[in-house]
Amino acid sequence: MQVIIFDDAQHVATNAAEWVAELINKNPKPVLGLATGSTPISLYQQLVNKHQAGQLSFKNTTSFNLDEYLGIDASNAQSYRHFMNENLFDHIDIDISKTFLPTCAQGENPRTQGLKYEEQIKQAGGVDLQILGIGANGHIGFNEPTSSLASRTRIKTLTQQTLTDNSRLFDNNEFQPTLAMTMGIATILDARYVLLIATGESKAKAVKDMVAGPLSAMCPASALQMHENAIVLLDKAAASQLEDQEYYQWAHDQNIKINQEFGLYHNY
Ligand code: PGA
Repeated sequence: MQVIIFDDAQHVATNAAEWVAELINKNPKPVLGLATGSTPISLYQQLVNKHQAGQLSFKNTTSFNLDEYLGIDASNAQSYRHFMNENLFDHIDIDISKTFLPTCAQGENPRTQGLKYEEQIKQAGGVDLQILGIGANGHIGFNEPTSSLASRTRIKTLTQQTLTDNSRLFDNNEFQPTLAMTMGIATILDARYVLLIATGESKAKAVKDMVAGPLSAMCPASALQMHENAIVLLDKAAASQLEDQEYYQWAHDQNIKINQEFGLYHNY
């Protein structure tokens, strides 16, 4: 796991945007895994800025989102489709028919829909770079604690902590879904690169469990310890419970030198 600590959330977003831009500029048919939540909003803003400045085209990009709520449809302002349109897709030149979310409409079988999503990812050639946030309880996507580390796209019941964490986004009388479709942990681990971004003190404990804790279904993000190319971008607050901060900084400095000498070692 490559842990990189920045002074603040803005620098995290800037660096994350560079990873995404590099993939899109290098790969003729990039497949991007996308996340929702508060954390990636400034990343998406930076991508929109790059696009509007004529530096980045998403024309050949296919995207797969991590998750989507059940019980509300795409027209609902709380749906993750709506979030993606509003924060990214409406402002860039991506072909909207190549943007996928793991949906399950009323009456559809979640098992069939999960298998279909896995197949769509496969048909696209697999995810090159998966963007991830992390829940305060260590979830990635909506893979809540106790999720199977071998899980695939399926329906999940959200935990009380996640419902409480996300209740800030819902009005008092508004319906808050308790079920979601989510890529599984094995689905996420299949991505060639994963880029997890976390900012703020509220994520510090989950970040510590992910990076330094035991590999455990109780912290689904700890499964990233098994990934060959996992990059974790943190601000100082999210990194505050990590014991080896000096080492991560030193290792990052060495990586920059190695990259300068031999070119970027990641190969999208
Ligand atoms: P947040 O959500 O970015 O809104 O904190 C992250 C997550 O739950 O994965």
